[in-house]
Amino acid sequence: MKTIILIIIAYLLGSIPSGLWIGKTFYKKDIRQFGSGNSGTTNTFRILGVKAGFAVFLADLLKGTLATSLAYLPSVDTNPLWFGLAAIVGHVFPVFAKFKGGKAVATSAGMLLGYNPLFFFCSLALFLILLFITSMVSLSSMIAAVIITLSTFILPSILPVLLPEQDWLLSCIAVIVTAFIFYLHRQNIQRIRQGTESRISFGLNKQE
Ligand code: G3P
Repeated sequence: MKTIILIIIAYLLGSIPSGLWIGKTFYKKDIRQFGSGNSGTTNTFRILGVKAGFAVFLADLLKGTLATSLAYLPSVDTNPLWFGLAAIVGHVFPVFAKFKGGKAVATSAGMLLGYNPLFFFCSLALFLILLFITSMVSLSSMIAAVIITLSTFILPSILPVLLPEQDWLLSCIAVIVTAFIFYLHRQNIQRIRQGTESRISFGLNKQE
């Protein structure tokens, strides 16, 4: 019973539509009406600027971390990843925004931060390198998700300091989340193929 209640709390945390609420409250804009129509970090950067973008990134990241950390409450013995997954589902299908949410990237990263911080910081570095190379957030997110998923299988043998032993639940959830991320980026994939996907410029101000 306690686990079910905590799963619901994790889902509700994930459901907080940070981009939508920050946009509406501080900028009087429904972010979903602009740019890519997504309510996540990238579109917020694109439409509302750096300050709002970082605020949405932090909020979306931390709701994944907070939900995952419910597992560390006293006398809870459920694997933290289940709470992280519930938050990701909430982020994508938020009860507070008519079930139309984001693309799962920042909240999935937040789950990793709550589960294995060292692995998270290495993944963040990987993402930033990919972003520097491709200048596309969507493409970098998808490539990073694939590499992170593969590395959950390989790391225990080559770099146990990051992942000491084979963690089948982590691998399984990584596969599911990666498939989910690809599905949610289907329009981005189309734009990448057509060469029309937005790129960021490292002046940090503006994209295409
Ligand atoms: O995390 C979302 C990002 O990968 C793409 O966002 O707004 O370019 O569709 P957007």
